[in-house]
Amino acid sequence: MEKDKELRDLANKHPNLVLVKLDVSNPSAITEAAKIVEVKLNGLGLNLLINNAGIYTPTASLDTVDAEDMVRTYKTNAVGPMLMAQAFLPLLKKAAQESKAKGLSCSKAAIINISTAMGSIKRTTDSFSPPVISYRCSKAALNMLTMCQALTYGEAGILCVALHPGWVKTDMGTQKVGSG
Ligand SMILES: NC(=O)c1ccc[n+]([C@@H]2O[C@H](COP(=O)([O-])OP(=O)(O)OC[C@H]3O[C@@H](n4cnc5c(N)ncnc54)[C@H](OP(=O)(O)O)[C@@H]3O)[C@@H](O)[C@H]2O)c1
Repeated sequence: MEKDKELRDLANKHPNLVLVKLDVSNPSAITEAAKIVEVKLNGLGLNLLINNAGIYTPTASLDTVDAEDMVRTYKTNAVGPMLMAQAFLPLLKKAAQESKAKGLSCSKAAIINISTAMGSIKRTTDSFSPPVISYRCSKAALNMLTMCQALTYGEAGILCVALHPGWVKTDMGTQKVGSG
């Protein structure tokens, strides 16, 4: 596959970079991936989990969005990150426990959920074109999930934040107006 060639080339060059295939909308694939990572870590904890995978239906207005798109988008953008955090939690906790660093940080243990300003309820009036309903709602859910994770996992020394990367020229962000 041409799509992941660059990544595979990097992994071939750097043996400490290990690729694990994963569909975040498939709960059993998430459990499997966590097991593989645990074996690769060989007794060490996991410092950083970045939930970056996301999908976007550019045409989803209130007139056109349907249940199937809402559920599919929610599954990848909100449910996936929730299950990922649950599955990797023991490894993240291990890293936090074994770290001598004070406070919360990415070098200790962290969950970074890649969100978007389009998921901000407060900023919706500034960015409502395009409406991308399923995407916005799923990312608003992701933001709430992140707050709940911060309040819960923070006690175990795990930093949990939602991050808006700004506009990035990717497959999703092909045009500046209407990018994720
Ligand atoms: N681009 C922007 O301007 C922008 C702005 C704000 C926020 N974001 C956020 O940044 C993140 C990355 O977006 P992007 O711009 O890089 O989008 P993208 O070019 O469409 O890439 C999305 C990535 O997510 C992966 N993915 C989708 N569904 C998945 C699933 N079920 N399981 C595993 N991987 C899955 C895709 O893998 P495959 O290619 O294998 O399908 C792809 O690598 C997203 O969460 C997005 O909401 C992007």
